[in-house]
Amino acid sequence: MPSYFLLAKEKMENYKGTVKDIKKIALDVYKMDISSDLKNSKAGQFISILCPNKTLRRPFSIAGFKNNIVSIIFKLRGEGTKYLADLKKGDSIDFIAPLGNGFDIQNKKSLLIGAGVGIAPMLFLKSELDKCKIENFLISGFKSKEEVIKGSDKTVIGGSVLDNIDKLIEEYKPEVIFSCAPNIVLKMVSELSIKHNIETQITLERLMACSIGVCRGCVIKLNKNGELINASVCKDGPVFKGSEVVW
Ligand SMILES: Cc1cc2nc3c(=O)[nH]c(=O)nc-3n(C[C@H](O)[C@H](O)[C@H](O)COP(=O)(O)OP(=O)(O)OC[C@H]3O[C@@H](n4cnc5c(N)ncnc54)[C@H](O)[C@@H]3O)c2cc1C
Ligand code: FES
Repeated sequence: MPSYFLLAKEKMENYKGTVKDIKKIALDVYKMDISSDLKNSKAGQFISILCPNKTLRRPFSIAGFKNNIVSIIFKLRGEGTKYLADLKKGDSIDFIAPLGNGFDIQNKKSLLIGAGVGIAPMLFLKSELDKCKIENFLISGFKSKEEVIKGSDKTVIGGSVLDNIDKLIEEYKPEVIFSCAPNIVLKMVSELSIKHNIETQITLERLMACSIGVCRGCVIKLNKNGELINASVCKDGPVFKGSEVVW
């Protein structure tokens, strides 16, 4: 376990990587493996990629890290993700990493909740929990079967990933919940955690200009024991205690 926490200490740097592999894994969703000199990263952290003709880098959660290969899973949205989807094996890629705080992994029975491409950091977290032999269960939700990204213990297709979640919590009895999903789901997960009195760590997404805590464009409000404070999603987060986020 202690070695895991040392991983978080790597200093953020600019890397020139090489696309090791890219494949379509679901409807409009791609997985890209990038080899580089990046030595370490932690589940919940992200990388920020330079896309040609775009002033602002595009942020993506780290979906896996092994032998200096960092993986991302991304959905086609606009020009930046189209550029990424068109890259071929051997192409070079410019990114900054590792960014953000990452999850605070503890030796506690963990329930992981993902939805859509929000499963990306959950897959990395699951592999890290498995490595540390921490009991965990990953449930994820997708709008249709064409959109399913594999790797969960349970997959909900069509309905909400939170349908029957109360029953799952009562039966599985998690000591901590982790989630990455659209804001509406994260808000409900945070309310659930308060209701069941379980610590929850959620990863937030915001449009990011600098991704390194300088522009203050991604600031949110946290309620820390009644005191309202500002926090930047890119540097202080993207992982926050669900119970502290002011929605
Ligand atoms: C910390 C963090 C982690 C992320 N991890 C992932 C990931 O693992 N996989 C993934 O597919 N996406 C992830 N995103 C979202 C991703 O950064 C955007 O989809 C991407 O920047 C879009 O770039 P584009 O040039 O293709 O689209 P743009 O042309 O910039 O935008 C097209 C449309 O995409 C949507 N969009 C753009 N940026 C975001 C954003 N930050 N959040 C939500 N919607 C957005 C908006 O509706 C916009 O109108 C993450 C975002 C953040 C902040
Ligand atoms: S994106 Fe600039 S401070 Fe977060």
